[in-house]
Amino acid sequence: MNFASDNVFGVDPRIMKAMVLANEGTAVSYAGDDITRRIEARFNAVFEREVQVFLVATGTAANALILSAMTPPYGAVFAHSHAHVMLDECGAPEFFTGGAKMIGLEGVGGKITPAMVADKISGFIRGEHDPRPAAISITQSTELGSVYSLEEIAAFGAFAGSRGLKLHMDGARFANALVALGCSPAQMSWKCGVDALSFGVTKNGAMGVEAVVFFDAGLAGDFAYRRMRAGQLLSKNRFLAAQLEAYFADDLWLENARRANRLARALAQGLGAIGAVRLAVPCEANAVFAVMPCSMVENLRERGAVFHDWIAGAADAQPPAEGEVMVRLVTSFATSARDVEQFLQIAGA
Ligand SMILES: Cc1ncc(COP(=O)(O)O)c(C=O)c1O
Repeated sequence: MNFASDNVFGVDPRIMKAMVLANEGTAVSYAGDDITRRIEARFNAVFEREVQVFLVATGTAANALILSAMTPPYGAVFAHSHAHVMLDECGAPEFFTGGAKMIGLEGVGGKITPAMVADKISGFIRGEHDPRPAAISITQSTELGSVYSLEEIAAFGAFAGSRGLKLHMDGARFANALVALGCSPAQMSWKCGVDALSFGVTKNGAMGVEAVVFFDAGLAGDFAYRRMRAGQLLSKNRFLAAQLEAYFADDLWLENARRANRLARALAQGLGAIGAVRLAVPCEANAVFAVMPCSMVENLRERGAVFHDWIAGAADAQPPAEGEVMVRLVTSFATSARDVEQFLQIAGA
């Protein structure tokens, strides 16, 4: 019963098989191989237009390197105060941007709004004493398992365009958000004004690959150098590309994301039906944030369930009371339905 994260699981066997097949023979190194060429073309098809794609090994690298292409060192990047780029990347965005200022905004349910960014910028009245507004980073699905609607993303796109800002989407869980909205990859990205996307793969079944996808070709110009300098161009890039080839084949990525979301929904519904439990945010993708009595949490852990306590923060309009704790439960492509049932049985007992 491991609900600690979606990356505690291994590799989807179909992706593993593709890597074994890619192991045959020799291939041109440093992304010059055939599988990489094919995957670049595949991204154009997935996004229904020409895009510039660069594979990297981690989501942190994708985020930090994209932001480095979006802002000057004296720029400001706006994101949710609990966003991965703010809290979990050990200053990689600041490092790779050469010192740009990351500005965290408090928003309910893991989301920010253009009005929050506008409000922050309105305080920048001191010329070069303030950083120059450069980019906005939104996470889809968010760190609290919520999903921005197309209208919400489009509002960011319009706002960013009107202010000369670039719009980044951290899509570590892009597939989970996509199937939750039931829209196309194009609709959830460039058609709403997203300039660059960190396209997550690892959490949804890969061994380790994320794609940097540029819709604004102007940002992609020097990116090959940025990736190389960051040590993110793998000499055996074919193994990154092979993972993606299997990921897209037969819509494996959508199938995996649907499964993860379905199990999260079951978990949320089951927990919502237990009187002593309340959901801190509605479950919209593959994560459940629940406020539970400490005794229930202890019992679950004693019976083998693994999950993290979570900081309540701005997410929860009704924070945990004395004797309660907020926990995060994440489901994945490989979570078993039995584990969900067992978890609910123990919680409800
Ligand atoms: C929202 C979000 N963005 C980015 C990442 C970064 O992924 P990685 O661990 O591959 O650097 C994560 C991983 O937890 C994440 O949750």
